[in-house]
Amino acid sequence: MTVTDSSQIPVDRAEIERAGQEHFDRIVAADSRIEPRDWMPEGYRKTLTRQISQHAHSEIIGMQPEANWITRAPSLKRKAILMAKVQDEAGHGLYLYSAAETLGTPRRELNQQLLHGRAKYSSIFNYPARTWADMGAIGWLVDGAAIANQVPLCRCSYGPYGRAMVRVCKEESFHQRQGWEILHALSHGTPAQKQMAQDAVDRLYAPALMMFGPPDSDSSNSDQSMAWNIKRFSNDELRQRFVDMIVPQAEALGLTLPDPDLKWNEERGHYDFGPLDWDEFWRVVKGGGPLNAQRMQRRREAHAEGAWVREAAEAYAAKHTTTTTALIGD
Ligand SMILES: [Fe+2]
Ligand SMILES: [Fe+2]
Repeated sequence: MTVTDSSQIPVDRAEIERAGQEHFDRIVAADSRIEPRDWMPEGYRKTLTRQISQHAHSEIIGMQPEANWITRAPSLKRKAILMAKVQDEAGHGLYLYSAAETLGTPRRELNQQLLHGRAKYSSIFNYPARTWADMGAIGWLVDGAAIANQVPLCRCSYGPYGRAMVRVCKEESFHQRQGWEILHALSHGTPAQKQMAQDAVDRLYAPALMMFGPPDSDSSNSDQSMAWNIKRFSNDELRQRFVDMIVPQAEALGLTLPDPDLKWNEERGHYDFGPLDWDEFWRVVKGGGPLNAQRMQRRREAHAEGAWVREAAEAYAAKHTTTTTALIGD
């Protein structure tokens, strides 16, 4: 028998693609997981790389509004809790960049896309955090909307993303709880504190509802993402779930949600709510929000300030590689 060089074996690319697609379709139909080394359609890889990296960018940019309040937290306990929360968000960014990298695009490249304005992040973080009560409203509404979005992602067909979401969601529920508790303390405080809590909810309620993305009628990528088991519910379904969840929570807080059309619909078994300002949403997405420029400038500064850490890590890795090579021989 002649042993041939493996590069000489004829490979039928079309055959490999066909077998890969069949395997992929079987996994998706069985509601099982695709893993990094499995064959996957190019569109699936691209969609996930975009979604996971944008999610990672959102976690990292999302640290800014709350980090601004760490030095102004009203007590040592509140400061420690807020610091832990902001660090959790950094951790979420790290899991997510790692998950995105398994699809083949290095983190350095994903980061460049953000720094050069080629990648988006969640628009909610382009709004300012004006008072301490915003720490409560961000935790309750923004982390609350994130949970509603992310719990179904725990069952995402792409293994590394789904598994990252399980841990992220556990931490997000703490975040929502601590936000609710800040608002509860304020709404049971002095009239001025209660007003501060109400103002924060008034400002952040509509942007939080827009976090689920445009209405289903305007959402172009949804159907394909649902067919691939990346997305499990439509934007409008998730928004409805969120509204149904927060109405009783607002009542328990003694705060009002700023929507005159909000009322229980017995027939539908859901709360009806008024229209959202989608022109504002698109304006903020396209860079015209109150703080888009400031958030990106701060991110670029932080990236530049962190250059020495990356250089030190690379020098250490290079030294380690040289030492290992010297020990085991080349
Ligand atoms: Fe997070
Ligand atoms: Fe969070």
